[in-house]
Amino acid sequence: MKSPITVAVTGAAGQIGYSLLFRIASGSMFGPDQPVALRLIEIEPGMAALGGVVMEIDDCAFPLVHSITPTSDINEGFKGVNWALLVGSVPRKAGMERKDLLNINGKIFTGQGQAIAKNAASDVRVLVVGNPCNTNCLIAMNNAKDVPADRWFAMTRLDENRAKSQLAAKAGVHVSEVSNVAIWGNHSATQYPDFYNAKIGGKAATDVIKDEAWLQGEFISTVQQRGAAIIKARGSSSAASAANAVVDTVRSLTTPTPAGDWTSVAVCSDGSYGVEKDIITSFPIRSNGSKWEIVQGVPVNEFSQGKINATIQELKEERDAVKELGLI
Ligand code: NAI
Repeated sequence: MKSPITVAVTGAAGQIGYSLLFRIASGSMFGPDQPVALRLIEIEPGMAALGGVVMEIDDCAFPLVHSITPTSDINEGFKGVNWALLVGSVPRKAGMERKDLLNINGKIFTGQGQAIAKNAASDVRVLVVGNPCNTNCLIAMNNAKDVPADRWFAMTRLDENRAKSQLAAKAGVHVSEVSNVAIWGNHSATQYPDFYNAKIGGKAATDVIKDEAWLQGEFISTVQQRGAAIIKARGSSSAASAANAVVDTVRSLTTPTPAGDWTSVAVCSDGSYGVEKDIITSFPIRSNGSKWEIVQGVPVNEFSQGKINATIQELKEERDAVKELGLI
């Protein structure tokens, strides 16, 4: 039997946690022969509900679950972790300014960054899901100076999956035919789902979907606004699809990317594509299973450049706001 991978999940009693934990425990994230030690982190008011979730994990009798540690102590929660999945955060409420949200969440992510640096395993990798995820990731990274910059990720995979599903539906093909969909920038309404480089059945998406007005307009806005559409229909925000995207993200980073394809995740910019260094930005990424890289040479036309500029501008403003608040 392999030794277990230790995985911390914050916000473990929340909506996403309720879908995610069972996928990790069943082997979807790390494979069918990889045991996992779960460290489940909640704030004090969430601990009773978390107790119920732990009972349910127990009741699944998962062969791969090595241990479960529920806790509201972040130092205990991040002890020895190889993967930290930072899902918990405080959602924006009516009347709350973006700056208020950054300030509230900033305090959470400064503390979590410090606790990860102090307690996690030396190979720790961190995926931030809680919104605003790019900037929360930036804050945590800047408060964990000993953890190298290439270990930090923020999630844009749900946007990529949404974009693939929209392109497949429009083209009338199965979603598995769609590849090379990059999300650029921020996980927010300014994100840019890049259809110009997407492929459908190996051909340029723009050759298969000969409706550039739809691609430039309705396609982008549908992907950007999908979260709001789900809230309207379901009465609460996307959770199972978000949890699925967490599983996809970790799998894509820990297994080789299929030849010629790429995936989307926000990483610390190295200046590629003229994006300002050291902000957490979504790029097309490839992995060999242990190391990842930003795919170079993806064509960026004038339309794409305009969209990328807008989303990077928003990220710079968020970075400046948290700098002003003394969080980084
Ligand atoms: P939720 O409100 O159902 O659950 C959040 C949980 O986090 C709660 O149980 C709460 O007690 C806990 N929590 C709050 N502060 C915490 C802290 N400091 N430490 C540990 N736990 C804490 O929310 P849900 O639906 O599970 O979403 C979680 C986050 O994921 C939200 O910020 C949401 O906006 C974000 N999200 C991000 C997506 C992405 O694509 N990046 C997609 C969907 C959601």
